[in-house]
Amino acid sequence: MSEDFFDKPFDEETHQKLQLFSNYIEKWLPVFLSTRYPRPIRIFDFFAGVGTDSNGAYGSPLLILKHLQNYNDLVSDSKVPITVFLNDRNKEYCDRLQANVDKVGYNTEKVNVIISNKDFSEAFELARADFIDSANLIFLDQFGVKYVDKSLFRFLVKLKFTDVIFFVSSSTFNRFSEHESIQPILELTTEEIKKHPPSKIHRAVTEKYQSFIPDGAQYCIAPFSIKKESNVYGLIFGSGHPLGVEKFLDICWDQDKQRGEANFDIDGENIDEGAPSMFEDMNRPKKILVFEKELESKILSRELRTDRDIFLYAINRGFINKHIEPVIEKLKQEKRIELKQPSFRCNTVWKKEREPRPVEVLR
Ligand SMILES: C[S@@+](CC[C@H](N)C(=O)[O-])C[C@H]1O[C@@H](n2cnc3c(N)ncnc32)[C@H](O)[C@@H]1O
Repeated sequence: MSEDFFDKPFDEETHQKLQLFSNYIEKWLPVFLSTRYPRPIRIFDFFAGVGTDSNGAYGSPLLILKHLQNYNDLVSDSKVPITVFLNDRNKEYCDRLQANVDKVGYNTEKVNVIISNKDFSEAFELARADFIDSANLIFLDQFGVKYVDKSLFRFLVKLKFTDVIFFVSSSTFNRFSEHESIQPILELTTEEIKKHPPSKIHRAVTEKYQSFIPDGAQYCIAPFSIKKESNVYGLIFGSGHPLGVEKFLDICWDQDKQRGEANFDIDGENIDEGAPSMFEDMNRPKKILVFEKELESKILSRELRTDRDIFLYAINRGFINKHIEPVIEKLKQEKRIELKQPSFRCNTVWKKEREPRPVEVLR
């Protein structure tokens, strides 16, 4: 990617990235726009660009405004301040962005759009105080890898009511892992990188970020790998709230029906749904088979004792209710467990007044 990025049409992979982002905002906004939600809403797009490609396709800042416009009834009824903060270090881009924002318009009575022309580090520093006590969605669509380093990530993990989506050009770590400007970013070692084939580098990078989450913190990250020719890059989503994680995973599984994590066959299994194999298990991605086995064993060994334990276990591994339910159904039919009125959707499992439902292991 280069800085003439906006003077040509976005490529297919950029559209895929933006689709994930757009789908997430669409699910995120109504939760916080609900009249019952008390906190100010702040959406930060720190690498905003100009707003469109050369064909007028919307980039992230205009997607944010489009979704706010789609929810204009909720926006109009909202009792809390709504701020959209758009930053880019390129002055000309900011001017073009301002013109694009004016062109698409937004509810100026309710929404405050701030366009800032600063280097990321300065813009982020100035925004730090604004992250406190609001519901935040932070999008970090950097070129490359350098801005979301270990220390920034650790800071993000500590923020409350904050979901983060960031871009990482993961193949860079494959190519330049030892380079003095790349090595300090995540301290990824050559051994850690070599554990994964190049096509899975975004998984390796995600595991590294995972290792920066303090022990005991309830924080979950989920990757989506995007391959373009031989390069792999992707998004990483992070949230301290299971509801956010579930939403992002739902979107990933919609986009990648087989493995929920890439725009290509990341495990190289060549499963052809149109021409299934005679062996049933060969028609199903191995990662799902492994998950089902592990889930079953953890339930039967009583490591997972309630529907909430099961739900959390699943989303931390990138799986959602549609993967949990068949395992539970099978165990119930085999009369190995009893579990009354379970739920594996976050907004039920997490209802304040609802106690987690215990799993009774029968044999
Ligand atoms: C990948 S583009 C963002 C695309 C945008 N999210 C969209 O969907 O249209 C990255 C943007 O980051 C800006 N940028 C690069 N380095 C930056 C920095 N250090 N601080 C702020 N902006 C930066 C570039 O000018 C560019 O517009």
